Parts: sequence; C-alpha cells; structure tokens
Amino acid sequence: MKPLDVTIVGGGMITHDLLLPSIYHLQRAGAVGRIDICALNTPPLKTLQESADLVRSFTGQTFTPHPAFSEPPSKNFPELYKKVIAGMRPRQSVVVAMPDQFHYPVVMEALRCNQHILCVKPLVLKHAQAIEVEKLAAGRGLFVGVEYHKRFDRRSLIARRRYRLGHFGEFVMGEAKLVEPYYYRSSNFQNWFTTDKTDPFVYIGCHYVDLVYFITALKPVELSVAGVKGKFPNGNEGYLWANGRVRFENGALLSVINGLGYPDAGAGSNEQCLSMFCEGQGKTGLIQHDDKFRGVTHCYLDGVGCAGSQYNYINPDFFQFVPWEGAGFKSIGYGVDSVCAILNAMIRIESETASLKAPQALRRRRGLIEEVDKQGLIATPANSSINELVVEAARLSILSDGLPVTIRYGKHPGVALRRG
Ligand SMILES: NC(=O)c1ccc[n+]([C@@H]2O[C@H](COP(=O)([O-])OP(=O)(O)OC[C@H]3O[C@@H](n4cnc5c(N)ncnc54)[C@H](O)[C@@H]3O)[C@@H](O)[C@H]2O)c1
Repeated sequence: MKPLDVTIVGGGMITHDLLLPSIYHLQRAGAVGRIDICALNTPPLKTLQESADLVRSFTGQTFTPHPAFSEPPSKNFPELYKKVIAGMRPRQSVVVAMPDQFHYPVVMEALRCNQHILCVKPLVLKHAQAIEVEKLAAGRGLFVGVEYHKRFDRRSLIARRRYRLGHFGEFVMGEAKLVEPYYYRSSNFQNWFTTDKTDPFVYIGCHYVDLVYFITALKPVELSVAGVKGKFPNGNEGYLWANGRVRFENGALLSVINGLGYPDAGAGSNEQCLSMFCEGQGKTGLIQHDDKFRGVTHCYLDGVGCAGSQYNYINPDFFQFVPWEGAGFKSIGYGVDSVCAILNAMIRIESETASLKAPQALRRRRGLIEEVDKQGLIATPANSSINELVVEAARLSILSDGLPVTIRYGKHPGVALRRG
C-alpha cells in the first residue's frame, strides 16, 4: 500500500492546532505521503509554515502551499481548491477545514474527484445535503468521516460502554457548557461567524448533543436555541452567546450554553463540562465530566499560555506535543486519535482492496464503509445525520428568536417550527 496523499482545504486555526500536527505525525510514520494545503490566500499558509510549534516538532517536514508563497498576500483564490483536488491521484484524502458554510461544496467537489474525505464538524448545514453526500460517497465507495473528536476522549468512550451496559440507568436530565475564549472574536472568525451563517450552538454546542447521542443512542426530537448578538471588532454582527434546550426521544432534556467569551485572563482557556442525570430502578445514576479542569495546572514565567496568559489549567487529553522516542515532538491526545482513526479507515479500505479488480474492489470498499457506519465510533453521514438535523433545527430556532423546532425521522426526515 502506497502512503495516502492528503490535501487540506483551509489553513486556519483547526489546521494549525490539530489537523496538520496529526497528519505530519502520520507522515513521519510512513502512512501519509505528500501533503498539500489550500487556503483562500497566502497569509494563513505562511503562519503554518513558520509556526514554531510545528517547526520544532516536525523537523524537515513541510507541505506544498496553494496559492504559492510567491503570490501577493492580498490576492484571494476562492476556487483554487478545485484545481488542486482535480490534480490528485484517485482515492486519496481531502481534509475539509474551512468555514462551516463551505463544507458542502468542497465535500461534493472532492467526492466527484474520487477522493475520500475527512471533514471537520459539522459536515454540512442541511440534512438534505448530508444525504446527497452519503449517496455520492456510497455510489463510488468513498469514505467520509466527520471529525467529532470529543467522541475519542477516553471519558466519552468509557461512558458509552458503561451506559450501554446499563450501569447508569436511562438519561433524563442534563447540562452541557462549552464557551470558547474571548480572543476568538478578533480572529478570522469575525469574517465568517456572522448571524446569517452560524452561531455558537451550531459551532460547538453540536459537540455535546453529538456526545449525548454517542453515549446513549437517544435521538434528539425537539430543540430551541436563543442567542445574544454582539459586534465583532470589524463591525460584523454575530451571535456571541447561545442557550439551547434539546429534548430527546425518551423525553430527556439537555440544556446547552455556548459562547465566544471565556475571559482571556481566565485559567481554563475555555469552559466546558457535561452532566447527565439518569433514572434507574429506585435510584438514579450520574455521568459528570469536568472537561475544563483535568487536574493539571501550569504557571509560566512569561505569558506563553493561552491568549498570553501565565496561569493555566492544562488539558493533557485533547492535544499536546510531548517528547517521544524519535526526533522532534509527538502530537498526542484524543484530537489526534480522532484524525488518525479517520485517515486509518481510508488506509485500511485502500490496502484491503488494492489487489482486487474494479467491481469487486468497489463492493468490498462499500462493505468496509458499512462496517464503520455500524460500529458508530467514527461519525459518518450514515450514522450521524442526527447532527445535520440538529444543526438545521438550531438555525431555524435561533433565527426565530428561540421558537421550538421539531425534528422528524423516518422516511422523510426534516425539521419544522412547532406552532401553537
Ligand atoms: N472542535 C472542533 O471540532 C473544531 C474546532 C475549531 C474549528 N472547527 C471547524 O473547522 C472549520 C474551520 O475553522 P477554523 O477555526 O480553522 O477557521 P479559520 O477562520 O481559522 O480558518 C478558515 C480557513 O479557511 C480558509 N478558506 C476560506 N475560504 C476558502 C476557500 N475558498 N478556499 C480555500 N480555503 C479557504 C481560510 O483561508 C482559512 O485558512 C469550521 O468548520 C469549524 O467549525 C472545528
């Protein structure tokens, strides 16, 4: 099996903080071949190339930038990704890491060019689009993995196993919080995180709705999301805060608070947690995750912490660089596990079908994809389209000032405002 080539479309924060360091590590291990990164313009690509963390950790490793560094920084190339993807060998990997509203056209383009896909969450913003993605991918035997890395946090995996063994009882009432740092407001977010495109519930609340589904297998059937608007430094208006209430098919309720506003001076870098109360026979059970303070605190001499801070709660579980047996540093954590699981699924699909004739290989690829769908660990269009329904319902609700929206399943899944 030849190593898998990877093209990342989008060179922003998630590419820097998680995707590229995970993929560089796979490249170092021989599983990934060439790496191309396509952004809207050169500045984010320069940031990636010059990143001290990446240079220190992956000595000598690099990527091919699109547009090339010789292009002026102010010149935009919104369609360049099409050319880059069209130039790839068939059935390699396209990693979609651009703003939410662009996932759909890029995923569809990459599938039409016969590429496997890793897409950051949310896959797309409409359930009908997720179905289109699923159909096109299944027809060609291409794998689409949606990167919901909280699923790979060991505490989520432990909770899923024990919940399904009946150790907690049935989920009945829960609360989740994920508030990202205030400084996000002055990042590239201000250009795309506008009220008409997305909101904090869609951006990060969906992680915890997905987690409750991941742990319990209960589907959300109704939700309401109310937002608080504010201005970004460039004057664009966005929902800076959101408060959601999600009802699940068994009647359970989850409230979800999200925002771009954890104080830059705070130690946590963000605020995040999940509590799930469950009903048993004559007693109750509880799952409680403090996802912000994981028992490690650092105080640096200088402001090298999050947003220039000195005193920090460290998350050793999501993503860190650590010394290892090889050169540089190794990227570890559940973020890396999640990216690797998705790319490894593609590598397995390709290596197990490499010696087969085309029709037989297609059948086998489809069979392997169905196995991943059924296993339900990696989110795929077939096993996680509840997320697209939730996202679609949330947008409808927040744009209607928090009116409840119901989610239909069955033959004709969809969402609708609940009247009366
Ligand atoms: N916890 C998570 O799972 C998580 C965390 C952060 C971000 N994300 C997701 O990742 C995506 C990107 O977020 P981010 O924080 O990196 O955003 P960002 O604003 O930092 O970066 C966006 C990137 O997209 C690129 N881009 C925009 N239009 C393009 C085009 N036409 N062609 C090529 N590149 C283009 C920009 O150049 C930029 O590099 C979003 O969908 C977000 O929801 C997920």
